[in-house]
Amino acid sequence: MNLAGKVIVVTGGAQGIGLAIAERCAESGASVAVWDYQADAIAGALERIADRAPRAQSAGFIVDVSDLAAVHDAVKATLSRFGRIDGLVNNAGVVADAQLTKMSEAQWDRVIDINLKGVFNCTRASVDALLASSGAIVNISSIVGLSGNVGQTNYAAAKAGVLGMSKTWARELGRKGVRSNAICPGFIDTPILAKMAPRLIDEMVAQIPQKRMGQPREIAAAAVFLLSAEASYINGATLEVTGGLTL
Ligand SMILES: NC(=O)c1ccc[n+]([C@@H]2O[C@H](COP(=O)([O-])OP(=O)(O)OC[C@H]3O[C@@H](n4cnc5c(N)ncnc54)[C@H](O)[C@@H]3O)[C@@H](O)[C@H]2O)c1
Repeated sequence: MNLAGKVIVVTGGAQGIGLAIAERCAESGASVAVWDYQADAIAGALERIADRAPRAQSAGFIVDVSDLAAVHDAVKATLSRFGRIDGLVNNAGVVADAQLTKMSEAQWDRVIDINLKGVFNCTRASVDALLASSGAIVNISSIVGLSGNVGQTNYAAAKAGVLGMSKTWARELGRKGVRSNAICPGFIDTPILAKMAPRLIDEMVAQIPQKRMGQPREIAAAAVFLLSAEASYINGATLEVTGGLTL
């Protein structure tokens, strides 16, 4: 899967799945723009990308995806550094779990602002650049957006919303040369799971036909495929990468 000459933006690219996507894009020949709101983590991410893909160009941009004005600035800065944007991976996301009887307005707003509005913001601000390059959008949703999950009213709403936007953009932009697809990861071994009790993790793994968590690089492989010309007729699709958890 060759991304030579392409410029890919990865939101939330400083750690976890986003970092793995940024690394794999760089290994496939792309220049990578890491957008994240953790400045320290961005620096570490750029070092890791350089280790894995010494010839690739990468740059970090500190941006909160929930802030549309800041996202417009990040697009400008990315264009001034790299000249074009060929791919946008909407990956930044957070959790703020509580069952419905206890979920606060602040928990609802935080997850919707970042996981749903953030995806709108980044795509809205990048769309002209993507149209200019006949680019591709990859939206990181979740299996929770398909099936719901106890304690995740906010997260399930956002991730289902991401699937709706992803399909809408496939319709609106497909005729103009831009493809839009979504990935629904299952249970992936990243820092987002740090707050989960080990017992719960064991229970989740027991439900997965492959009997293990996924690794970030296994999501990254799917993202690079969808960004690449190998996926040239895949548009509006939702790719489940779950080890069979959705069966
Ligand atoms: N890990 C899983 O099991 C799993 C499963 C399904 C979907 N996902 C989704 O995959 C994506 C990545 O998750 P992860 O597990 O790598 O999480 P993570 O917490 O390890 O990484 C998320 C990254 O997003 C960044 N980020 C968060 N809010 C941001 C904001 N407002 N602006 C800019 N950057 C921001 C963080 O700084 C971090 O670098 C998320 O959208 C998540 O919902 C994860």
